Amino acid sequence: AQRKLLLLPGDGIGPEIAAEVSKLIAILNDVVSAGFETETALVGGSAYDDCGEAVSDATMDLAMAADAVLFGAVGGPKWDGVPYDKRPEAGLLRLRKDMELFANLRPAICYPALADASSLKREIIEGLDILILRELTGGVYFGEPKEIVDLGNGQKRAVDTQVYETYEIERIARAAFELARTRRGKVTSMEKRNVMKTGVFWNEVVTRIHREEFPDLTLEHELADAGGMKLVRAPKQFDVIVTDNLFGDMLSDIAAMLTGSLGMLPSASLGKPDAATGRRKALYEPVHGSAPDIAGQGIANPIAMLASLGMCLRYSFAMNREADALDAAISQTLEAGIRTGDIMAEGCTKVGTGGMGDAVAER
Ligand code: NAI
Ligand code: MG
Repeated sequence: AQRKLLLLPGDGIGPEIAAEVSKLIAILNDVVSAGFETETALVGGSAYDDCGEAVSDATMDLAMAADAVLFGAVGGPKWDGVPYDKRPEAGLLRLRKDMELFANLRPAICYPALADASSLKREIIEGLDILILRELTGGVYFGEPKEIVDLGNGQKRAVDTQVYETYEIERIARAAFELARTRRGKVTSMEKRNVMKTGVFWNEVVTRIHREEFPDLTLEHELADAGGMKLVRAPKQFDVIVTDNLFGDMLSDIAAMLTGSLGMLPSASLGKPDAATGRRKALYEPVHGSAPDIAGQGIANPIAMLASLGMCLRYSFAMNREADALDAAISQTLEAGIRTGDIMAEGCTKVGTGGMGDAVAER
């Protein structure tokens, strides 16, 4: 079977880490006949330099036609002066919007070799494997009215509006239960039903989707503040956490830091299932940015990008065996003491971007 990937390396360290992911795609094609067909295109500042837009219409067409998009990172000081709607980030925002990527997946896993680098005790995070699912296209970041009003008496009023409609909560809830089914079967929904109408409604819709469509799975509810506390105190009690855009923004950053470095964190953004194939539109990317401070030096950590490919194998192609093998290869590489500068520790061997990619590829 042919599987169409669009690789968008982007700016800064993006092309350097994308080169390492290409090595693994080639191995998958050789070793398990994965049938990946990869096209590569420009995005971000490099696309702006080329065609005056952060993502061209032709690239958007490729993204819409691909089974999955692998995205590096965009941005850098070179483009500080470009018009707002053409800035590098506008490329990513257009991809998210046109592909309707409403579900943002941020895993927090603990690689045993790095457990001691965490600020939490080893027993709290050893073996940690949780997934935060954040609603990405609704809620208070987008609701109207959104304004600062001059009241004319020396006072102003700032307004943001949290809005959620039934279909928006239904689809993120379904995504949460579907993901939980491939994992440990437990979903924890977080909102603030004690003080917010959107919280009451969120709770009601998630509860109904669970009862009607996924009664065999476990659903628990937490108030988002108490849930955040539990996430730090005893994170292993969770499997999939589903929450709105605002709470998800905060909780996913907190969860990410349970386990350590920015160079290690992958993410995925999923859209609606295609009517014909059932496959969801999807974009996979590291959490970190283009790291202009280390770009061009060959020292960036490619693991976040490689782990993003792992998520792609798992969530776009149900290649769980291959995804497990990739995760194990990353883990074994770290166990062997092979480290890029950002995660370097005493007694370990320091390698560059290519050295890390090769070490994982070999395993
Ligand atoms: P950043 O994530 O690019 O870098 C923060 C720090 O972490 C830097 O010191 C960097 O060297 C280090 N770092 C990041 N990734 C690393 C890796 N793989 N290996 C080793 N070290 C790594 O965030 P920053 O500096 O705030 O933003 C730089 C540019 O990236 C800006 O233009 C920003 O707008 C853009 N950005 C893009 C994102 C995206 O493409 N999705 C996300 C975040 C920022
Ligand atoms: Mg954030």
